[in-house]
Amino acid sequence: MRITILTLFPAMFDGALGESILRRAVDQGALQVERRNIRDYAQDRHHVVDDSSYGGGPGMLMKPEPLFRAVEDVRCQAGESGTWVVLMSPQGRTFTQKTAAELAGKPHLVLVCGHYEGVDERFREHGVDDEISIGDYVLTGGEPAALVVMDAVARLLPGVLGDPTSSEMDSFSAGLLEYPQYTRPAQFRAWKTPPVLLSGDHQAIARWRRRQAILRTLRRRPELLDTAGLSPDEIADALGPDPEGDAA
Ligand code: ADE
Repeated sequence: MRITILTLFPAMFDGALGESILRRAVDQGALQVERRNIRDYAQDRHHVVDDSSYGGGPGMLMKPEPLFRAVEDVRCQAGESGTWVVLMSPQGRTFTQKTAAELAGKPHLVLVCGHYEGVDERFREHGVDDEISIGDYVLTGGEPAALVVMDAVARLLPGVLGDPTSSEMDSFSAGLLEYPQYTRPAQFRAWKTPPVLLSGDHQAIARWRRRQAILRTLRRRPELLDTAGLSPDEIADALGPDPEGDAA
């Protein structure tokens, strides 16, 4: 998969792309990341990319010309129909695990990072295929949001996480929060690992985990249960007495 980031601050991505899983994804060739500076597409002598808002008001807007030129250049060079251009913006559709899976299926993703008070409306309307927000808060620019999207998409690409099932096992993929997990030592200070997890009984462990995932979701994010596809029996079982006698 290929990701092109259009930004005024390409160096903001250095750290994230130089470490850990994103770096491995790039080194392995599962992901190709290209950064382009929107300022390079400004045609005037001073490479101006922003201007004040017609009608007045505080703050500056990103001008349409450099944005359109950057996107058109990328689309033209890519030459393929699979290029999907996304504007990172607090006004976009909210990013979820489902959106990440959808974007992971695109051969070429272009993430456009807005700045200042926003972008000229004509770019939003005619320059992009999609507009995504990572949550209901306002960042100083789209770069942290683009990083979030890139990270969530990269880990879904085949071969990026060592174990092929680890992204499929994710809580949000199954529509539930993650069950509690423990590693050695079996007892840390006064706190013991639930005995069922040490029992070696794989069926009992799977039952316990499923039940814990449902209970945790019910307590912390009940709205997720509406779309998790659980049967009423499964919810009733999770709420009933614990067959393993091992409440977490
Ligand atoms: N740019 C500023 N705030 C943002 C947000 N919440 N999501 C995506 N892009 C943004």
